[in-house]
Amino acid sequence: MCGRERTPRYAKGRARPQSVRARRGGDAFGDTLRDDVTRPDDYDEVPYEDRPVAETHPDRLHRVARAAGLPIAPPERARILELGCAHAVNLLPIAAALPGARVLGIDRSARQIERARHDVAAVGLTNLEVRCADVMDLDLGGERFDYVIVHGVLSWVPDAVRDRVLSLCATVLDAAGVAYVSYNAMPGWAVGDGVRRTLRELVGDGPATERVAEARAALAWLRGASPDPEVVEAVLLDQELAELEHRTDAYLLHEYLVPDGRAYWLREFVALAEQAGLAYVDDVARVGLDDAERQVLEDRVAARTSDPIARAQLFDVLAHRRFRASVLAHADAPRVADRRPHGRSRVPAVASIPARPCVSVLARFEAEHRGFVTTPEHACAPVDPFVACVVARLDGTRTEGDLVAALTDDLRSGRLRADAPLAAIEPALPRLIHGALERLRAEGLLLPP
Ligand SMILES: C[S@@+](CC[C@H](N)C(=O)[O-])C[C@H]1O[C@@H](n2cnc3c(N)ncnc32)[C@H](O)[C@@H]1O
Repeated sequence: MCGRERTPRYAKGRARPQSVRARRGGDAFGDTLRDDVTRPDDYDEVPYEDRPVAETHPDRLHRVARAAGLPIAPPERARILELGCAHAVNLLPIAAALPGARVLGIDRSARQIERARHDVAAVGLTNLEVRCADVMDLDLGGERFDYVIVHGVLSWVPDAVRDRVLSLCATVLDAAGVAYVSYNAMPGWAVGDGVRRTLRELVGDGPATERVAEARAALAWLRGASPDPEVVEAVLLDQELAELEHRTDAYLLHEYLVPDGRAYWLREFVALAEQAGLAYVDDVARVGLDDAERQVLEDRVAARTSDPIARAQLFDVLAHRRFRASVLAHADAPRVADRRPHGRSRVPAVASIPARPCVSVLARFEAEHRGFVTTPEHACAPVDPFVACVVARLDGTRTEGDLVAALTDDLRSGRLRADAPLAAIEPALPRLIHGALERLRAEGLLLPP
């Protein structure tokens, strides 16, 4: 679920957001075993492909909270909770960057939590705990949190779970804390929801993998059966269908085959939050517009109405917004006059490549097992197999010459496969490795010696 907003335009094949659903299931840890289990949890059958989401990082939420005058705890000694954390892929880099913070991830899927536990141990994090539990009967024993993250959950669960998630946020949130809650937004999600409902009509109720196969066949039929797109609605539908052809099984299943998928107008979401005792503070999702375009729209809606929610909702109409990541606080949260963020001193980026380059244990783990690394800005930076091999060896013991020798060995043994003949690649290795190191340095991933 990285960056779920897209620029509204009538072009095919553009990248798009991700998400969820919910159906009750049992789990191996016994926290949520239920009598009404009739089938395995879809997330156990086809696990979610979670990614770090920059907007959820407490550094980002801290700035938003401070701008609103909330005396929130600084991230470096905060208590951070994520509900629906999947494999905790988002929480691992947060916990690694904030060793003084207490971080807790909750998810109902036993399979995902089992892998998250394994990964936490592999990276050696002691401040991140993951727990397998259903939010419907989650008991946090009175523990309070400064930051609560709920990403990709609200729009994909039954109303009762949605309401419970919001009331849980209110219960566990510290007086000056903030909750990040993302959801599919109207009006942009309308076409997607039409496709979701159509697929639900055309797909049976079998195991998850069978439903995905049926959905792919249904999508192909829909595209073929649709008349040539001559009206704008048909263009939008065609674009939605075309994009889905390239999506993974996990995405198709958890975004489009969810029984309870629902998008919200901002005013609806704000009303639900208010029922739980929470107030809307701001939104941190990207909107797919550049700053100038965004400013033009903001000025137009500001000239039309002074009500902040009406303004934001009108903006959503003009921007054809399909995803929101709203920040909430207690309706009666304390406010202070000083709105400056408390600066956090980061590990300084190195000015040049050290003699024996080193990245964090987490970066090495991510490169080796996930095909990406999380940047200091908490963004997901994909790495190809070549760069992954370089990163996996950056433990501060090897010079660039050692890296060249190690990758030569990888190529000759077949551990690293190359498209071109080895005779052509080997002479280029020092340059390629130096280029990869320079990119890692520029992204702030190389640690000071
Ligand atoms: C689409 S995934 C989102 C994962 C992650 N937050 C992200 O966006 O990358 C939704 C997650 O919510 C979890 N979930 C759904 N209903 C839940 C419930 N009632 N209690 C706990 N977790 C739940 C699912 O198991 C799944 O891992």
